[in-house]
Amino acid sequence: MIYLDSSATSFLKPPQVAEAVCRAFLTVGNAGRGAHAATLGASRMIFDTREKLARLFHIKDPARICLTSNATESLNIAIHGLIGAGDHVITTACEHNSVLRPLYVKEREGAGLSILPADEKGRILYEKMEAYRRPDTKAVVITHASNLTGNVTDLSRVAAFTRKYGLLLILDASQTAGSVSIDVEAMGIDVLCFTGHKGLLGPQGTGGIYVREGIEVSPLKVGGSGVHSFDKVHPADMPTALEAGTLNGHGIAGLNAALDFLEETGIGAIHAKEDALARSFAEGVSKIPQVVLYGDMEAELRAPIVSLNIGGMDSATVSDILWEDYEICVRAGAHCAPLMHQALGTVEQGAVRFSFSYFNTEEDVAAAIDAVRKIAEE
Ligand code: ALA
Repeated sequence: MIYLDSSATSFLKPPQVAEAVCRAFLTVGNAGRGAHAATLGASRMIFDTREKLARLFHIKDPARICLTSNATESLNIAIHGLIGAGDHVITTACEHNSVLRPLYVKEREGAGLSILPADEKGRILYEKMEAYRRPDTKAVVITHASNLTGNVTDLSRVAAFTRKYGLLLILDASQTAGSVSIDVEAMGIDVLCFTGHKGLLGPQGTGGIYVREGIEVSPLKVGGSGVHSFDKVHPADMPTALEAGTLNGHGIAGLNAALDFLEETGIGAIHAKEDALARSFAEGVSKIPQVVLYGDMEAELRAPIVSLNIGGMDSATVSDILWEDYEICVRAGAHCAPLMHQALGTVEQGAVRFSFSYFNTEEDVAAAIDAVRKIAEE
């Protein structure tokens, strides 16, 4: 089997991740809920995970990182906790439904919403930001990279805009955390939402949200915290403020091991390899006459994603053939990115997405190019 669906979830992971999860089942208690070895060990392991995430994203205070179950939960926390009915938000056509659907909820509750369009290559029309700003604009909620085109957002341009007007920059790093360097200070990111199971190479059910010092987010859920049990209100101190209930200690143990791997390998080396594989695949398939590629393939910085169609073939049919005849795993259809497909003109056909990881090889790329060529020739 050739796994080229890492944008959906990284299936190929360092072996120490599974080992850490198995070990955690035998050792990890409930963090912050007692004083025996199992609970203290869990608390230490979770604290250590926050420290590793802080190093990865250049976050000064690890306590500003709350652990969640995935980027969708983090984005819901950010959007529901920061945007009120009287606020206006700017987002983009490149967003995943994990950004769009919470924003549509806010819109139904009375918030204003403006969506920056994208061109036929999926490039955001940043020049419209100024015109879309209103006196009540509170935030820009934006993806770091499209899960369909792999285009990486020009964050320096967005951050210059948010800084100029004192707006919040809420970033969805689902497709970049672990694959592209992220420095929250240098990049002007106020709130960072990430998942653990994609580029971070951790287990599903892990993720997190970083909230810059000075920003208070109303919690989405409240409940057990292990502290101040007689108070009627959930503690406001970070990270407890956004971590009601038992954390996924077993999953976080796996994420912790994955972060060790990322730290040892280096995001630079990971990006270089993934980028080379994706570009090599894009170059190979671009020579097949029936292939239509989507996205800004010439951009210097890209996420390791290549989406395409073969003539007028339905994308789901192509993906089925890739699996049935070639044992190649990809994702077809709409990818939970409706506005991106509208911009690309692929609403009916969808697109076939190939996404690469550090553990793929040039042989995988060659086999995928060959498969696309044979499907196109048939
Ligand atoms: N958001 C994931 C994807 O793009 C699941 O496939």
